[in-house]
Amino acid sequence: MRAIDIIDSLYKKQEASREDLLWLIENRSTDISQALFERAAAVARAHFGNKIYVRGLIEMTNYCRNDCYYCGIRRSNAAAQRYRLTEEDIMQCCEAGYGLGFRTFVLQGGEDMYYTDDMMAEIISAIRTKYPDCAITLSLGEKTRESYQRLYDAGANRYLLRHETATPEHYAKLHPAELSLASRIECLRSLKEIGYQVGCGSMVGSPYQTLDNIVSDLLFIKSFAPQMVGMGPFIPHHDTPFAHEKAGTAELTLFLLAIVRLMNPKVLLPATTALGTIEDNGRELGVLAGCNVVMPNLSPLSVRKKYMLYDNKISTGDEAAEARASLEKRMRAIGYEVVTERGDYQD
Ligand code: 5AD
Repeated sequence: MRAIDIIDSLYKKQEASREDLLWLIENRSTDISQALFERAAAVARAHFGNKIYVRGLIEMTNYCRNDCYYCGIRRSNAAAQRYRLTEEDIMQCCEAGYGLGFRTFVLQGGEDMYYTDDMMAEIISAIRTKYPDCAITLSLGEKTRESYQRLYDAGANRYLLRHETATPEHYAKLHPAELSLASRIECLRSLKEIGYQVGCGSMVGSPYQTLDNIVSDLLFIKSFAPQMVGMGPFIPHHDTPFAHEKAGTAELTLFLLAIVRLMNPKVLLPATTALGTIEDNGRELGVLAGCNVVMPNLSPLSVRKKYMLYDNKISTGDEAAEARASLEKRMRAIGYEVVTERGDYQD
């Protein structure tokens, strides 16, 4: 059967041709998905056992200079209530998170020029000094190579920068002309050269996306060989140009996550918040399809509702401690253990 042959090839060679990937996605069924998920989860277990790594997400600013058509914190959204965390706020998030067993802090935000490189370097080195055993991940968008180097030298270890879509024409339909896929990829290359563990990734079911675009994402990820991949469904936000577009499905997202796992066996692959938002047990299903990371929110409750990239984002009301406990319970229920390890990429 062609599907089984393709899944076998993905498993044995970690690759498949464009035609085969396209065929597999187009012809997916419940049976094919099940076979794929089993293989992907087995590969994840071979590398990570039943361990699930956690990352404490600190959403430090929702100011953004960009105007991505899909994103709720785009600069043109006048309805967004903007906020910025101070260094002290951020340190408090880390302190609470450390006590809960988090050993990776992810500083995420819009492209907010209020935080100069000096300020970011100061915040990063404060975290680095106080928590020498923790990984610091940045998710702050496009910067110059010099800025990336500066923040790396200050003590950051990892950088998440989704490529969003690997097809330039599709990229242009999701972003204003001032943004380009070429510059995004240039950033990703610089980050890797500097020595960051790098994460790229895309949205599933974003407006105008074709299956061919999706296959290009899979092939791009394979060739870029990132240490992390962030892939979640597109979810419309009511105050954006894409307010009335359809959301991506959990079903297709899970299928693609499993393919990503087979093509990139050791990659750190989170079951995203967006996946948990469109489907009740989305994050559990993600783990059962090969994901090995979850990223609970450590942001102060007072700002949670303001960091709305898309509608109905989950865990806006849970205290970090509650979120961690409930996650542990959910993971244990499917046979997985949330662990305290840093969970660095292992070659
Ligand atoms: N739906 C899903 N994901 C989104 N992101 C931004 N807006 C949305 C949305 N409406 C994702 C982008 C970005 C990451 C931080 O959040 O992929 O890289």
